Amino acid sequence: MRRTLIAGNWKMNGSSAANAALLAEIKAGLKAGAGCDVLVCPPAPYLLQCADVLAGSAVAWGAQDVSAHVAGAYTGEMSAAMLADCACQYVIVGHSERRAYHLESDALVAQKALQALQAGLTPIVCVGETLQQRELGQTDNVVTAQLQAVLDMLDVAALDSIVVAYEPVWAIGTGKTATPQMAQDVHAVLRSLIAAKDADAAQRVQILYGGSMKPDNAKELLAMADIDGGLIGGAALKSADFLAIVAAA
Ligand code: 13P
Repeated sequence: MRRTLIAGNWKMNGSSAANAALLAEIKAGLKAGAGCDVLVCPPAPYLLQCADVLAGSAVAWGAQDVSAHVAGAYTGEMSAAMLADCACQYVIVGHSERRAYHLESDALVAQKALQALQAGLTPIVCVGETLQQRELGQTDNVVTAQLQAVLDMLDVAALDSIVVAYEPVWAIGTGKTATPQMAQDVHAVLRSLIAAKDADAAQRVQILYGGSMKPDNAKELLAMADIDGGLIGGAALKSADFLAIVAAA
């Protein structure tokens, strides 16, 4: 049985004061424990704030990106070891906003996932098609190429240390959600791709859905056989909404 993971991707939002309030509300809401794994991914300058506030709580913290390099002259980048040093457990790699605005290739995303794994972090590998790609019937091919690039770099044992997130680009921040069946269909494609590498491990990998997941649609999305959690953007910035999604899980 796969555990459900509800992860908040705060993107480039927040401040020390706003985070303190949000984290306190989330912690208070989960005082009695959570029925699923819960994660927040703040902007990097706030990772130590999360470490300070969340240590010993039911909430884990992670980063939104990581360097593909180990160390050295890469101004502005953060290594996986540095994130581990901030007690991160997870790091998002290959988010569509990084692919689009920073031209991250499938190969670079795979390098980032590898760096994360080597530092003991769980990479959350994001894949997803644009609206145009969906309309052209290319969804399965696009997400397959994106995930395969990562799978090609991993040995079978590493499959137990990755999370996959399907985030259709057209559903991110738009209020448009994939229907549960549309999402399930892609999740099934992704799981069968993993199964081609190792059938047993494929049954254990958590595959999250992201893209306008809200309290009012979380339950039906999370009810699908291959949807094992959510990667939440906008709704993760409001404690009531985030807690409602956690409660739906
Ligand atoms: P929204 O929930 O705001 O659509 O964002 C989803 C997302 O990109 C999470 O990584």
